[in-house]
Amino acid sequence: MQDFQVRTHYCGELSLHDKGHRVVLYGWLHKMRDLGGIVFVHLRDISGISQVVFDSAVNKDLHDIGAALRHEFVVRIEGTVRARPEGNDNPLLTTGEVEVVADKVEVLNSCDTPPFSISEDGKISENLRYQYRYLDLRRPGQQEKILFRSRVLSAVRRYLDEHRFHELETPILTKSTPEGARDYLVPSRVHPEGFYALPQSPQLFKQIFMVSGFDRYYQICRCFRDEDLRADRQPEFTQLDIEMSFTPPRELFKIINGLMAYLAETVVPLMTVPEVIPEMTYQDAMDRFGSDKPDLRFEMEIRDVSDIVDSSDYGIFRNAVADGGHVKVLTVPGGGSFSRKVIDDLVERAKQIGAGGMGWARKDETKYQSPLLKFLGDSLMDKVFERAGAGVGDLVLFVADKWKISLNVLGTLRLELADKLKLIPEGKFEFLWVTDFPWLDWNEEEKRPAAMHHPFTKPHLDELEKYRDEPLKIRSQAYDLVLNGTELGGGSVRIHQPELQKQMFDYLHIPEEEAQEKFGFLIDALRFGAPPHGGIALGVDRLVMLFLGEDSIRDVIAFPKTQKATCPMTNAPGKVSDRQLREVGLTFRK
Ligand code: AMO
Repeated sequence: MQDFQVRTHYCGELSLHDKGHRVVLYGWLHKMRDLGGIVFVHLRDISGISQVVFDSAVNKDLHDIGAALRHEFVVRIEGTVRARPEGNDNPLLTTGEVEVVADKVEVLNSCDTPPFSISEDGKISENLRYQYRYLDLRRPGQQEKILFRSRVLSAVRRYLDEHRFHELETPILTKSTPEGARDYLVPSRVHPEGFYALPQSPQLFKQIFMVSGFDRYYQICRCFRDEDLRADRQPEFTQLDIEMSFTPPRELFKIINGLMAYLAETVVPLMTVPEVIPEMTYQDAMDRFGSDKPDLRFEMEIRDVSDIVDSSDYGIFRNAVADGGHVKVLTVPGGGSFSRKVIDDLVERAKQIGAGGMGWARKDETKYQSPLLKFLGDSLMDKVFERAGAGVGDLVLFVADKWKISLNVLGTLRLELADKLKLIPEGKFEFLWVTDFPWLDWNEEEKRPAAMHHPFTKPHLDELEKYRDEPLKIRSQAYDLVLNGTELGGGSVRIHQPELQKQMFDYLHIPEEEAQEKFGFLIDALRFGAPPHGGIALGVDRLVMLFLGEDSIRDVIAFPKTQKATCPMTNAPGKVSDRQLREVGLTFRK
């Protein structure tokens, strides 16, 4: 076995302190400049870059070797550190005050011409980047994101370890879990008719850990969901999964609040975290911002004007309110100057999102301008503008519809307009707990209510009496952590008594046999002294994305899937041989 010279320093860590020292560096050839008799090379490793000099006046042979090096060759360089000559410092490099005068160099490997430049952060098509992900990740900007993620994860572990949490693992080959997305299935050779499902989350197992007495659990774990991809969704993603026994939700909120503050202190210096992250109920979040994950970096609150306009001459408003719906308004600051074309486009957009139509009004120094003016008159318009907090120069948008539709439409426009009008400040971090989510959601396919979170979430028991008449009004003890309008995580207080769990399956229309087949082991476990418990899961990819101000979680995952759920580097998903299919008892239907 060839004996390697031991590396004495990392490239990014040399300074004047090392002046006169002999060093051994390893790395990739990042850039080079050949000035004839003297060659300057930037040598790069994981820590950064050092400049190395091959001077023909000092060593002609070595200079010739230096001149023959090419981008991305892997080399070992030995030499002596010196201060750069007066006026030659490079403030862009952390090592910019020094350089290494080479006296030995060994090429450890050459490199084909890369399909894109490693040393320049130019725009490259995503497919090419992912096909050559090993080169993409070699680019300093990309590498830094992955290293940042690693620092976040080690800080998370430090913090949770200090707070008496235990890092415990759960299986990947398991049964279907209750998160409600489509499963990735794995056939079994030993049981040709049986399938494992990859976990959508470790939900059931973490509850089992509570029954086993591990009262503070965490895991940084991979989860799998076969769902349509978006910028903040991957088929394979990482959760920070947490579960605690004997603690009320506020205690969990404190732990997570503390974790965010610790991350700000140790790895995300530009982030500010309030001492107590504010809370807002789901109802308030929807009513005020038209979203269950409101972005609080800017204002623009939605207001209800049903009581003002229900007596107006406008049939659409009157009928909407009479049918149990609402008239909601959103003020667009400065939107009074929009052209008619822009306003018409906004109305079209509102229809695309689900509104039947959208009214608007604006005001100049003397009068209102609005298609609604002839119905509302100045006096109702004054009241609406006052309620909406609108004034001269603003635009007020009106949507009359069912509660959820009117809010969804205005909530979506709120975000789109704030983006367009550049009302969202950069570098701001607005955390929020959204609490008391509805326990049930309407399942349109099956025409019945179904669990909004998952079937182990505890409802507010004193509200179960609403089940017959207003089931969607029953609230659950479920909460989400929101950062800048993105859902970072979600969790709940769990049902820990078996009788209550059985009763809840009835309410959720999950037949006993189905519950037994799917989650029987958990229901059984609850009978053996399950402690009261609850937990949360934070999306690690989303966390890192928001900390770095990136737009997509693909940027912070080392080996992400494309929008079409493929991996251009490995060509996954790929075909398998007939033999493999036979072994697991599968054939393709033609
Ligand atoms: P939930 O389904 O809300 O809860 O997921 C928790 C968090 O995981 C992240 N997440 C995703 N990130 C990237 N790609 C995806 N496809 C994806 N899906 C979810 C989000 C989300 O907030 N078992 C419960 C947690 C609990 O009750 O403790 C669960 O998994 O950031």
